Amino acid sequence: MCGIVGIVGCQPVAERLVDALKRLEYRGYDSAGVATLDHGVMDRRRAEGKLFNLEKKLSEEPLPGNIGIAHTRWATHGVPNETNAHPHFVDGVAVVHNGIIENFSELRDELLAEGAVFTSQTDTEVVAHLAAKYRKSALDSKAAMLATLNRITGAYALVVMFADDPNTIFAARFGPPLAIGYGRGEMFLGSDAIALSPFTNEISYLVDGDFAVVKTDGAQVFDYSGNPVSRARQISQASAYVVDKGNHRHFMEKEIYEQPEVISHALSHYVDFADHTVKPADAAIDFKNLRGLAISACGTAYLAGLVGKYWFERYARLPVEIDVASEFRYREMPLSPDQAALFISQSGETADTLASLRYCKDSGLKIGAIVNVKESTIAREADAVFPILAGPEIGVASTKAFTCQLAVMASLAIAAGKARGLITPADENELVRHLAEMPRIMSKVLNLIQPQMESLSRELSRFKDVLYLGRGTSYPLALEGALKLKEISYIHAEGYAAGELKHGPIALIDENMPVIVIAPHDRFFDKTVSNMQEVAARGGKIIFITDEKGAASSKLETMATIVLPNVAEIIAPMVFSLPIQLLAYHTAVFMGTDVDQPRNLAKSVTVE
Ligand code: AGP
Repeated sequence: MCGIVGIVGCQPVAERLVDALKRLEYRGYDSAGVATLDHGVMDRRRAEGKLFNLEKKLSEEPLPGNIGIAHTRWATHGVPNETNAHPHFVDGVAVVHNGIIENFSELRDELLAEGAVFTSQTDTEVVAHLAAKYRKSALDSKAAMLATLNRITGAYALVVMFADDPNTIFAARFGPPLAIGYGRGEMFLGSDAIALSPFTNEISYLVDGDFAVVKTDGAQVFDYSGNPVSRARQISQASAYVVDKGNHRHFMEKEIYEQPEVISHALSHYVDFADHTVKPADAAIDFKNLRGLAISACGTAYLAGLVGKYWFERYARLPVEIDVASEFRYREMPLSPDQAALFISQSGETADTLASLRYCKDSGLKIGAIVNVKESTIAREADAVFPILAGPEIGVASTKAFTCQLAVMASLAIAAGKARGLITPADENELVRHLAEMPRIMSKVLNLIQPQMESLSRELSRFKDVLYLGRGTSYPLALEGALKLKEISYIHAEGYAAGELKHGPIALIDENMPVIVIAPHDRFFDKTVSNMQEVAARGGKIIFITDEKGAASSKLETMATIVLPNVAEIIAPMVFSLPIQLLAYHTAVFMGTDVDQPRNLAKSVTVE
């Protein structure tokens, strides 16, 4: 994940900016840079690799100035080199950015047609060109920023400086986090409270759609129409090297809200956002000639694998044998070297998953590991490692790791289908465009449903048993929703394939058993609605999680209907994970359980 820092100060800032970047190194990066403004002169130093390289440049060529911005870059668009490192400069405008500018291709074409000269392969550069263009057309820097923000779409945190506006830094947030730090006679900006902790612990977090004007004597925050908004100041508990909850009550809540940002980083490893194609998968797994896949994992990671099964079978026509690792390792499944095995694990240390990996390795299969910890045992023993790049996941209940596992598997399934000649370039472009929309859509959904989730959880916490239903890729989501609820609120919950209702679970239905139905308006929608009618006919209470099309076409009375935007089938599992995560989270908070460390559970089960 990228890191951003800015200082509007009363003393030289270059070294302080780099020190602050050091506190963001845990986020991962592959290049870095700093820019300062001194008596109307803007200058920068940038370097590939670690901060040491940037510090070396600064010691050889110091940067004067009491105002500056700095950045550690995780490459999403363009290779990780000095040319693509931030800050990006265009005609007296300096920009650092975290996230994805989704419409950068169209904007770049428009700017090129107007004679703009691009020097990098990044999406970020279009922001600098736009701000410079609007600044030149007689708009003051604040108006130029607002004009720019109203042109770009995507998930982003931006910090911008104008050479002719020497006492001001501008900031904007839509997705990845950004905080304002309040000093004495100086002000700060940072990706999180950790970066700001040595300067101040008095901070306020920007929310999606905020635009801030930061000067040495304070900050003003506006919406994108220029209307003032107020953001509360709080005292941060962050210390320099502890991963911090930010402005959330629990790590789980923070990690739910990090998903738009970390998914954009996970995707950037597997797809090319410029030409909307998938990057070839690690050659160690020869998807083109495989005759089948085995997938194994535990808990939420296993449920991610269940979703992946649908995708590998649909897009790559690869038969998938999947089982929980504790069963897989003892089944002595007949396997052959013309299959490959994928193991999914956030920690990369789960004992049963590791044992299953070793069983497959001994059977001569090529091994792929979809992990969040690249140095983990499972990663080390695999032939191909597919990192999910979710950043540290502290909450025991897995959330951002789950959706990043899904994003990686969706990309791999498309790459496998392409390698097997089953996906046309047009289909590939369409599927990848949908993946690229995910960070923005997930940010929008999180803001949209938060109040409803909180109020609905109060009702849900009254029940002792809950049933989740889904079809297709919503069936593993039903299992995951049940797992989330039971593991952190301790309410008994069960997930079922909706089509199985009549084969037993319908006997449970009465007014004491809420049924949570996960049903985007896809190919299975009508069949799932008829299941809902069976539930309603028996007095069951339905919580309906659907999209705008589904809500418009179902007239059924429900306990609650959660309406998400209409989304493409390929991204529905990630988007529909958000309400089931938030519902479980708020129910647990309302019940007062230990959300981040639920009883009897461990973050990584390294024993059988
Ligand atoms: C997820 O919410 C659970 N805490 C648990 O099921 C977890 O997914 C499982 O233990 C697997 O862990 P891993 O991904 O680190 O292998």
